Amino acid sequence: MKEALLYEGKAKKVYQAKDRTGKLVLAYKNDATAFNGEKKSSFSGKGRLNNEISSRIFSLLHDKGVETHFIERLTETEQLVHQTEIIPLEVVVRNVAAGSITKRLGIEEKTTFARPLVELFYKNDELNDPLINDEHAFILSDVTRTELQEIKEKVLKINEELRKIFRDIHITLVDFKVEFGRLASGCIVLADEISPDTCRLWDITTQEKLDKDVFRQGTGDLIEVYEEILRRLEDKQ
Ligand code: TMP
Ligand code: ASP
Repeated sequence: MKEALLYEGKAKKVYQAKDRTGKLVLAYKNDATAFNGEKKSSFSGKGRLNNEISSRIFSLLHDKGVETHFIERLTETEQLVHQTEIIPLEVVVRNVAAGSITKRLGIEEKTTFARPLVELFYKNDELNDPLINDEHAFILSDVTRTELQEIKEKVLKINEELRKIFRDIHITLVDFKVEFGRLASGCIVLADEISPDTCRLWDITTQEKLDKDVFRQGTGDLIEVYEEILRRLEDKQ
């Protein structure tokens, strides 16, 4: 199913799909990193869990009219996607304060924002993915003003749909990061992954953290909490 390795990231490998031009195979790895690769580990089963979780979430978003690169899950750890050129922006939406914003702006963790807050980061490991504004985004990527406006509208719609998906499984979607890619046609679609690596997910009742923060903060078992997310998603479908 796969041919040449095109790119290896911290959590996934990207291959050209065999005999299928314009399509890629994403292979999820068991590696986990935090603090821009400073903290590293490997967890048996993580690749399978994130592949399953992200595949389910992308399918649910597709059903709600969100255009994405996702085609199908191929194997335990692999999925087929449309080839896109990734726009080097990490688009973060925050519903509740946690993580970098608490340190950067002194906002107390668990503060709920009156409206979802959209932030842009420049996807560049050497620079440690710095926070940027719209004007920087136009310099650092090829997005036009209209496209950036569209990306913000899309990400707010994605937030609304994800909040519902997670509310249904008794989880607060605290924040998440997504990436967008450009198809050969020029259209911009949701790309990359949506998983407990890229979201903050808190149990509604206990506020227990069910995401990569257990690894970042060394407070729990990553596989146990990722399994809990998958179990809850499976039970709902
Ligand atoms: P932050 O609070 O560290 O800025 O993270 C915001 C959200 O983005 C959180 O859900 C984790 C996710 N995230 C990634 O997916 N990749 C990253 O490299 C970082 C820093 C955060
Ligand atoms: N993904 C980033 C890293 O690998 C940071 C993070 O998720 O906390 O280091």
